[in-house]
Amino acid sequence: MGQAKIDTLYSSEQIQARIKELAAEISKDYQGMEKPVVIGVMKGAIVFLADLIRHIKTPEPLQIEFVRLSSYGAATESSGNVQTPYLELPNISHRHILVVEDIVDSGRTAKFFLEYLQGQFAPKSLRLAAFLDKPSRRVVPVDVDYVGFSIEDLFVVGYGLDYAENYRELPFLGVMKNGVAE
Ligand code: IMP
Ligand code: MG
Repeated sequence: MGQAKIDTLYSSEQIQARIKELAAEISKDYQGMEKPVVIGVMKGAIVFLADLIRHIKTPEPLQIEFVRLSSYGAATESSGNVQTPYLELPNISHRHILVVEDIVDSGRTAKFFLEYLQGQFAPKSLRLAAFLDKPSRRVVPVDVDYVGFSIEDLFVVGYGLDYAENYRELPFLGVMKNGVAE
């Protein structure tokens, strides 16, 4: 595969600084909350989640869970229906749940999953943290409680986000140039 040119949108340092701010906000909000459960949405959110949880300071330990959802195929356009390749969760009824997403784009994945959790577990509280928000792309309304960066309608890669399963490992957030994903 050829080398696509990837321009930096947010450097690793900028991302880490923003994550500390987000974690401080989350830590403050979750002070009085019993046994919060953090659910990462794979694959895209794993890098963000791994960095975020190491800066969250709550009186009680966090429980970390994962699901795998997808609404994109290999393309850069959302397919519209949410796939659930892995949706196994322990009994987390009536708990405080924080969902961690890589990006909220059309909003379909987040809306689907928040409604699923609401119906399945009647959480005491249910909030959403997303590394990125692309509000101009929203098709269904979703409120994101904690946003790392709000971005324009650009296709981004790195820091967990992929283009056809490539570039998740990049420590920065990039925009592809000279590529189909521009
Ligand atoms: P939504 O359901 O349309 O909100 O899409 C959410 C999912 O689409 C994310 O979890 C990502 O996997 C993917 N996605 C949306 N925008 C981008 C992007 O710019 N780069 C990489 N993946 C993206
Ligand atoms: Mg994803």
